[in-house]
Amino acid sequence: MLSKKIEAALNEQICLEAESSQFYLAMASWAETQGMNGIAQFLYKHSDEERMHSLKLMKYVNERGGHGLVPLLKQPTKIFKSVKNVFETVLNHEIKVSNEINKLVDICLKEKDYTTHNFLQWYVSEQIEEEALARQILDKLKLIGGEKGGLYLFDRDLEGLAAAEAGGVDEKA
Ligand code: FEO
Repeated sequence: MLSKKIEAALNEQICLEAESSQFYLAMASWAETQGMNGIAQFLYKHSDEERMHSLKLMKYVNERGGHGLVPLLKQPTKIFKSVKNVFETVLNHEIKVSNEINKLVDICLKEKDYTTHNFLQWYVSEQIEEEALARQILDKLKLIGGEKGGLYLFDRDLEGLAAAEAGGVDEKA
């Protein structure tokens, strides 16, 4: 059985992951309107992954005798300055999510809830991967600079990355 404190903290994380999903969805839609379909596919897929992160938490809370709550979400930013701006935002957002996961892990240790602590290790590893991927993408963008041809190839690269990972949503969740 979850303590009320852990249940509330997990519900906050359900909300943050759902917000992440909306956030990536907004970025995907913006990229699609800019004709960058590869980047859009990558971000749509990422949005699905974030929804699974939220759902996985919700199911865990319910399994442990709590109530996973569907959060009220605000409309995310619609317009982005550039592709670089999108991925800088992604990295900053993932760093924020990692910090929140670490705080959750800390609460579990203080409350001696080792089951939830164990459950959260999946999120800890996931965040390492997500931050590394965002940094890798930003490094590529720095190499390209403002060059249009480079951005075209980058868009195709991300399309390939999204296709290669297709089907990974279920495995990861
Ligand atoms: Fe589920 Fe990217 O945090």
